[in-house]
Amino acid sequence: MSVAVRQLENTVRDLLDGGKGLLAADESTGTITKRFEAVGVASTEDNRRAFRELMFSTDDVERWLGGVILYDETIRQSTSDGTPMPGALVQRGIVPGIKVDRGAMPLALSPGEKVTEGLDGLRGRFEEYRDLGARFAKWRAVVELGDGIPTRAALTANAHAMARYAALAQEAGLVPIVEPEAIMDGTQSIDRSAEVSGAMLRELFAQLTDQGVVLEGLLVKTNMVVSGYRGAQQAGPDEVAERTVQVLRRNVPAAVPGVVFLSGGQTDDQATRNLDAIARCGPHPWTVSFSYARALQGAAMQAWAGAPDDITDAQRIFRERVRLTAAANRGELDAA
Ligand code: 13P
Repeated sequence: MSVAVRQLENTVRDLLDGGKGLLAADESTGTITKRFEAVGVASTEDNRRAFRELMFSTDDVERWLGGVILYDETIRQSTSDGTPMPGALVQRGIVPGIKVDRGAMPLALSPGEKVTEGLDGLRGRFEEYRDLGARFAKWRAVVELGDGIPTRAALTANAHAMARYAALAQEAGLVPIVEPEAIMDGTQSIDRSAEVSGAMLRELFAQLTDQGVVLEGLLVKTNMVVSGYRGAQQAGPDEVAERTVQVLRRNVPAAVPGVVFLSGGQTDDQATRNLDAIARCGPHPWTVSFSYARALQGAAMQAWAGAPDDITDAQRIFRERVRLTAAANRGELDAA
C-alpha cells in the first residue's frame, strides 16, 4: 500500500505553519486523575470534559495552536452545546489528533524499564479515529535513566514498536508523531541526558527506516536536553539550547518536517525560556515548535480548580500561557 505523502505534508503544514504549536490534552484517565487530585478536583468524566472544553474554547488560541492531541475519551465527547469535540476544534481551524498508545508497561526481564504497548488491533482503531476526525496521532515511549539503564533491549523494543505504529498511521493517512522521551527527573548530568537522548533517536530512525516509514510525513516529539532536575548543576537556557540542537542535528534527518518538544516536568518559565533560546539559535533543518501538556495547562487548571463555576480567570491564564509560548517559539519572548 502506498502512502499519501501529499496529504501527510498538508497536515504537517496545518499543524505548524506560521509558528504554531500543539497542545497535548491527551492525558490518559489515570494521568489526568493524578493532575486533578493535585489541585483537589474530582476526576469525573464530566469534569474532564469541562476542563478540556475550557481550553478548547479560549479566545484566540487558534492563532497559536495548530493542533490539539486528544485522548480516546475526549474524541468521543461533545461540548456543552452538543458539538463533537473534534468538530469544535475544526471549526476554529485547529487540527484534532489522537493518542493511540496504551501506555508504558514493565519490560520483561529488564527491571526498572518500560515498553509502550498498543499495537494489537491498531489498524482498526486508526480507521475509527480517522472517521471521528483525527488527522494525526501520537505514540509515546519512555526511557528511564539510571545505573546501567537504558539497556539496548529497552531502546530497540520501544523504537521497533514506535516504527510499527508510525507505519500503520501513515497507511491510514494520519501523520504519526513519534515521541521518545528520556525522563529528566533524575540526578544525571546534561552530558548523560544528551547521550541517552541521542541513542534513543538513533535507534528510532534505524527502525523507522527499516519499516519503510516516510520521513517527510511524520513529526518527532522529544525532550529537550537538560540537566537531571535533581542534579547538582543546572544548565541555563543557552546551554540547553546548544545541547538540544546538537543532539537533534546529529540524529534527526533533515527530511523530517518538524520537531516538537514536550515540557517534561519543567516549570512553565523554564519550558518557555528554553524554547525561546532554541528558536534563537536557528535556522534549523526542520521546523521546531512546542507540544506541551503541563507547561500550557498547569496554571489554568489550578485557577479552574479554585473557581469551577467561573472559567474566565482560567481561560485568561491559559490564553496568556499559549501566547507567551508561541512568542518563545519565534525567539521573541523578551518582547512579548
Ligand atoms: P508534558 O509537556 O507535560 O511533558 O506532556 C507532553 C506529552 O504529550 C507527554 O506525552
